[in-house]
Amino acid sequence: MRPEDYITREGKYGAHNYHPLPVVLQKGEGVFVWDVEGKRYFDFLSGYSALSQGHCHPKIIKALTDQAQQLTLVSRAFHADVLGEYMEFACKFFGYDKLLPMNTGAEAVETALKLARRWGYRVKGIAPEHAKIVVCSENFHGRTITIISMSTDPDSYADFGPYTPGFIKVQYNNVGGLEEALNDPDVVGFLLEPIQGEAGVVVPDEGYLRKCYDLCRQHNVLFIADEIQTGIGRTGKLLACDYENIHPDILILGKALSGGVTPVSAVFANDEIMLTIAPGEHGSTYGGNPLAARVAIAALEVVRDEHLSENAFEMGALFRSEMEKIDNPMIRQVRGKGLLNAVVTEPRGGKVAWDICLALKENGLIAKPTHDHIIRFTPPLVIDRDQMMEAVGIIKDTFAQF
Ligand SMILES: Cc1ncc(COP(=O)(O)O)c(C=O)c1O
Repeated sequence: MRPEDYITREGKYGAHNYHPLPVVLQKGEGVFVWDVEGKRYFDFLSGYSALSQGHCHPKIIKALTDQAQQLTLVSRAFHADVLGEYMEFACKFFGYDKLLPMNTGAEAVETALKLARRWGYRVKGIAPEHAKIVVCSENFHGRTITIISMSTDPDSYADFGPYTPGFIKVQYNNVGGLEEALNDPDVVGFLLEPIQGEAGVVVPDEGYLRKCYDLCRQHNVLFIADEIQTGIGRTGKLLACDYENIHPDILILGKALSGGVTPVSAVFANDEIMLTIAPGEHGSTYGGNPLAARVAIAALEVVRDEHLSENAFEMGALFRSEMEKIDNPMIRQVRGKGLLNAVVTEPRGGKVAWDICLALKENGLIAKPTHDHIIRFTPPLVIDRDQMMEAVGIIKDTFAQF
């Protein structure tokens, strides 16, 4: 089959809820992927940051295949030997009393919202049905009805109503907005991304997270960090919140928690919050399955043992400094932290970010635009200096074509 045939078949039988770059991939290893014709590309999307440990990391794949031959699912109706091992390991890794295992990011966000409301009613003493959660403009937390009810992006929410009530939307990176919202005594939580990924890698001002955190403390409101995209080394620290020495009351992780191998997400909190949910009040058939547990341990060990946060910090600084050297009128801004970066482009001669991504693909590097004019560059964190310089060369040559 030719690449076009794969693409046509997908479009014929699959819902049209994505607009992929026209490349059909067949194999991945480390920072590289290969298409069905054997052409190699640098993967500068990394499954929207799920593949931080690189494609098919041998240690993670070994954990997967070993466990797959042993025990894959028990459901939480029974105990599994590896589940407690994973929970202990992950709780100590991130410094929490407990974790609640789920699968996708959206499910973990939903779990965090339920926990915050529960804590509001059972601990803070909010009147029934009154709890409110403050969220930010341009947020992205997933695709469920409740999550899109928090969205300010019409592409996400339009014509999917009626929406879930109980959210107050404030401007991101504006402490005053949060301060005003916190005057409402029914607020139980403040949910945010420490860097907004899907919005186009929007990095808030230094000190913003700390000020928000302190305000939450003052108002007895839970600080809830969605680090599904920013967490586990991506921004050059284990968590993006570490840049401001903040330990969120509720931490949400997903994506790289499995190294891109199987859906694994988790919500972390201390007992006062986590124990407000009792048996039978929340769950998921696949959440915490033995395969996921074993894979997640391996995925976190790889981040720790291969010093991926530190590498992301260094390679990210190198990437941004090289991008800033490019003198091209289509580049308006380079921004990011660690290996979560974006180049904001300016249309020119009818050419837009999508055209640049098509040209990058031709030249051997795949990346995807977000919001039409922003190209996100988020390679696996295992990228080394030589690979980074080769990829930078491709990006420079590509911009020179425009
Ligand atoms: C910050 C953030 N939260 C939540 C999600 C949703 O995760 P999932 O697609 O696994 O449901 C994403 C996905 O991109 C994300 O970036």
